[in-house]
This record gives sequence, structure tokens and C-alpha cells, in this order.
Amino acid sequence: MPKLWSGMTSGTIDEAAEDFNRSIRVDSRMVREDIAGSVAHAKMLAARNIISPEDAEAIVTGLEGILRDIDAGTLQIDPEAEDIHTFVEQTLTARVGEPGKRLHTARSRNDQVALDTRMYLRGRVEATAALLKNFILTLCDRAEESRAMVMPGYTHLQRAQPVTMGHHLMAYAHMACRDLTRLRDAANRMNVSPIGCCALAGTTYDTDRRYEADLLGFDAVAENSLDGVSDRDFCVELAAALSLIMTHLSRLSEEIILWSSWEFKFVRLSDAYSTGSSIMPQKKNPDMAELTRGKTGRVYGDLMALLTMLKGLPLAYNKDMQEDKELIFDAFDTVDACLTVTAPMVGNMTFLPDSMRRAAASGFINATDLADFLVGRGMPFRTAYKLTGELVAECTKKGTTLEDLPLEAYRAKSELFDETLYDAINIENCLNRRTSYGGPAPESVDRQIGRIRSILK
Ligand code: ARG
Repeated sequence: MPKLWSGMTSGTIDEAAEDFNRSIRVDSRMVREDIAGSVAHAKMLAARNIISPEDAEAIVTGLEGILRDIDAGTLQIDPEAEDIHTFVEQTLTARVGEPGKRLHTARSRNDQVALDTRMYLRGRVEATAALLKNFILTLCDRAEESRAMVMPGYTHLQRAQPVTMGHHLMAYAHMACRDLTRLRDAANRMNVSPIGCCALAGTTYDTDRRYEADLLGFDAVAENSLDGVSDRDFCVELAAALSLIMTHLSRLSEEIILWSSWEFKFVRLSDAYSTGSSIMPQKKNPDMAELTRGKTGRVYGDLMALLTMLKGLPLAYNKDMQEDKELIFDAFDTVDACLTVTAPMVGNMTFLPDSMRRAAASGFINATDLADFLVGRGMPFRTAYKLTGELVAECTKKGTTLEDLPLEAYRAKSELFDETLYDAINIENCLNRRTSYGGPAPESVDRQIGRIRSILK
């Protein structure tokens, strides 16, 4: 194919250089948006008498035919084309002749690619948002089931205080809700049309940018033509939102990997979401969780590459910016793939409440509650804290627990102790009394679940 731009240059480019320059492998995904953008552009040009209604008609019919044939599989996107914009325009001209050559009036590939990318990413945000929602609802369902399954809560990965599996899972549901709003915020800021900024300096034609933006579902038009074609902030913002999604998925993955180990045994993964070992017959490996944790770095890399790609670019368009799509598409593909397996992996894992309860029984996770018992009897917290620490040390020495330590041992430390202390340090009671707003008591978990479900509706 002759180059679209073989005017000043001969258009004969070295083969390796041509391939290096090409972006069709990446941007052919935007064919639908490219065609929709061109249809709107032709309509605008005709509405402003820049091209005739007959030419616009020929262009629109031609473009619709191209899309139909691509969908039907009778037209292949040429892998040798420079990019998707070139492919569509050249195919159109080959099919409809002269009118096809008028389509690029008052437009440049610079505003065209910025337009296509924003439109394409709008769709990707919707798809990822749907996956996130499904993930959140899965977490809510599993949390409802495990609202009363006591397990140790940890700090420094040391047993700390009692929580439930339900409360723990809801922490991730809240992270994912913030992720959803972050994606939507970025998508809203992105929904500004660059088309009509042209190459960099607008145009002398009497175009109607607002009309074209309306046809394409944009909330506003870019106010400055240089900014309109140079701005890739939306890619960075989306990549940042996607990076945080991966951070959260990776933390959950790490916990699932720990929980499914022999050392914890809090959950058993479904066979559908685990693998075996080629040599060790007893193995059941949490590969999906490990891959998700592993792929997190890839999405962070996309974010870093986008930021670095932009930081030294003078206004307006520079070819460096062609890299944007490969990076942001990869970030979306990766997040979508991870959400697609993580949601059902969480949905299908089996809880092992007996081992959670066993873990909760050792590690003195009721020590704070014992101190609080003394505080309830009038002792200052700091004194109670010290005394409880001594009792824990005594238990450790004797190889027993606070629950099994006899009353005499308690009373030797303080007259404030009586039989009722055992109720106060019973793990289930410790949990059920943690009814503070946002706490782990089952009714607090119910409130969290109810709130999130109603927000998502
Ligand atoms: N394939 C190019 C990209 O993705 C389209 C814009 C080309 N513009 C140009 N001035 N060469 O950025």
C-alpha cells in the first residue's frame, strides 16, 4: 500500500523501519471506535457544508459496509497496514473512490487516535467495572456465609485479636468498592472529545466540534487544541487505578496462598482453581493466586512506562505516544484476566472453620479482652495491660492458655478477678462484643454487606 503520507517524502521506507513504525498489531482493536468516529466526522462535515450530503452518504455507507464485512469475517484487517486509521481510510477509498478521499478534511490522525483511544477505553472501563462488581458481590456472599467463623486477626503476621473470615473478606470488598469509584472518576475525566483539535492547531474550516462530540457521547470538548492531542493523562489515571486493583488482588492472593497452606488450613481451594505438581503427587498448588500476585508487577510496569513516556515530550504529538495503547491495553487485559479467575476462585473455595477456630484458641488473642475485664473493674488500662502480660508469660511458661489457667492463679495477681473472667475471655464472646461501628461482630459484618449490596444495586 502507498503511504497516506507519501507527499513530501517518497514514502519508500526501509522494511525494518516500516515494521518498527507500525501499530496495527495493537490498535486494530479500536476498529469499531475508528469507524464510529469517522461516521460522526463525515456527518459533521456535511452538516457544516464542508462536504456534500452525497459524499457523506457514500462515506457512511462505505464505513458501515467495512464494519459489517469485518464482523462477518469477509474482510481481514491487513497486518501490513501502518495503523488502524490508515487501514480504514484506505479500504474506504478503495471501495467508494473520491468521497473516501474527502473524509480526512479538518482532521488529523493525531486527534483521531486520541478520540479512538478514549472511546475504546470507555468500553474497557465498563467491562472491568462489571468484573469488579461481580467480584465484590462474590466477597459479600462468602462473607455472609462466614460472618461467624472466628479466626485470628493478625498484625505483623502475629495472632492479635479475634475477627471472622467474613469481616476479613469484607475488608477486600471495601477496597474493591474504592477501586470501582476510582475507575469511574478517571473515566468521567476522560470523557472529553479531542476531535477537531486536528494536528495540533485546530483548523480554518467552520467545524462543529460540539455536534461531533455529542454524536459520540462525550460530555465536553477539549478546550485547547494542543492539550487535546497531547493529553494522555487519562491513560496514566486509568493505569494507576488498575495498579491499585492489582495491589488489592495481590494482597488477597497472598492471603489465600497462606490460608491454603498446611500451616494455616483456613481454606481449601477448589480443584478447578488449583494445579498439581508434575513430581509430587500430594501437591495442590494455588497457581491462580500466585499468577495474580506475579502479574501485579506487570501492571505497575505499564503505569511507570506511561509516566516515563510522557515526561519529556514537548507539545504536541510525538510518536512516543504510540506506546500508550500497548501499555494501557495490557493493563486492562491483565486486570480483567485476574478478576475473571479470582472471583470464582474465592467463590468456590471451602472454608475450614475448625482450623480457624483452633488457630484462634492459641496465641492469646483474648489478652486485650482480659485487660479490658480489669479496666471494667476499675483498674487503669496501663496497669491492667502489665498484669495481663505477666499472666500471658505465666501461661507460656506452663504451656497453657488464659482460658485454662485456674482462678487461683488469677486471684494471686488481683482480687478483682472472679469466675466471670472466663466469660469475658471466651473467644466467641470476645468477637460478639466487638460491635463498635466497623468492627468484626457478625451484626457489624451484616451491616457492611447490606450497605455494599445496596450501593451496587
Ligand atoms: N499510530 C499512531 C499512534 O498510535 C497514530 C497517530 C499518528 N500520527 C502521526 N503524526 N504520525 O499514535
